[in-house]
Amino acid sequence: MIKIAVVGSSSMDLVVTSTKRPIAGETVLGDSFVTVPGGKGANQAVAAARLGAEVTMIGCVGDDFYGEIILENLKNNGVYTNFVEPVPGEVSGTAHITLAEGDNSIIVVKGANDSITPEYVQKAVKVIEETDIVLVQQEIPEETVEYLAELCEKLGKRLLLNPAPARKISEHVIQRSAFITPNEHEFEILFNGRDRSEVLAEYPNKLFITEGKDGVRYFDGKQERVVPSFVVEAVDTTGAGDTFNAAFAVAVAEGKGFEECLLFANRAASISVTKFGAQGGMPTREEVEGSFES
Ligand code: RIB
Repeated sequence: MIKIAVVGSSSMDLVVTSTKRPIAGETVLGDSFVTVPGGKGANQAVAAARLGAEVTMIGCVGDDFYGEIILENLKNNGVYTNFVEPVPGEVSGTAHITLAEGDNSIIVVKGANDSITPEYVQKAVKVIEETDIVLVQQEIPEETVEYLAELCEKLGKRLLLNPAPARKISEHVIQRSAFITPNEHEFEILFNGRDRSEVLAEYPNKLFITEGKDGVRYFDGKQERVVPSFVVEAVDTTGAGDTFNAAFAVAVAEGKGFEECLLFANRAASISVTKFGAQGGMPTREEVEGSFES
């Protein structure tokens, strides 16, 4: 069984559904309110575990009720939580999500996720030493991502950086990451609006731009390629990116070629959007493999 370490956020998603997204200064009536576990790190950990990987999460929760639910949920999904600690006096991360007009908008309050410092990650160095691939996102401090990139380089471990939410990253981190997976919006911020093809050619088989319904674009060393996504009836797109990243990491760690990894990841992501909640639709291995036959 392949081993994956996820260094990242875990949060409680507070989800409001509404037919209309309010504009600034406007109040609208919503249809429902639900709380479900989320956070990009925890989502990716759960997705990878459902796809059959042995996953260890390295993160923090608050010492509150949400923290207990988040931990319980990780355990229920088979994720190792020895390195998910409650932070005394701190609240759990929360994501305030509006589902309206066929898409989501999210405000994240990091809470305990800000306690995932380089020193904290250092405590889990043994886990990283024994892992096949490391996943990280950007709902944790920037210096932790930098530290992790250096650590992975030192230990000869591949790092998949999912640069979400968007913020600038240094060339130092880019060089030390094996894979970087921005969506189109994140790409614009990361590379200052530069031409996509020009940038892709600089990072062959490293930079994978997810373009939603259009698929995933990358440069294979000889030519630019787009691996298409699958058309489905979307109920909730929250967590689709997390499912994609986890599935891509699982497939890469299993030694599949990039084209196959991306097909697998696109399939998993397309299934994930067919149910409500970031983790609600995340598929099992059998569901992804079965979907290729139908
Ligand atoms: O990627 C989706 C996640 O982003 C949600 O679960 C929410 O927690 C936000 O962080």
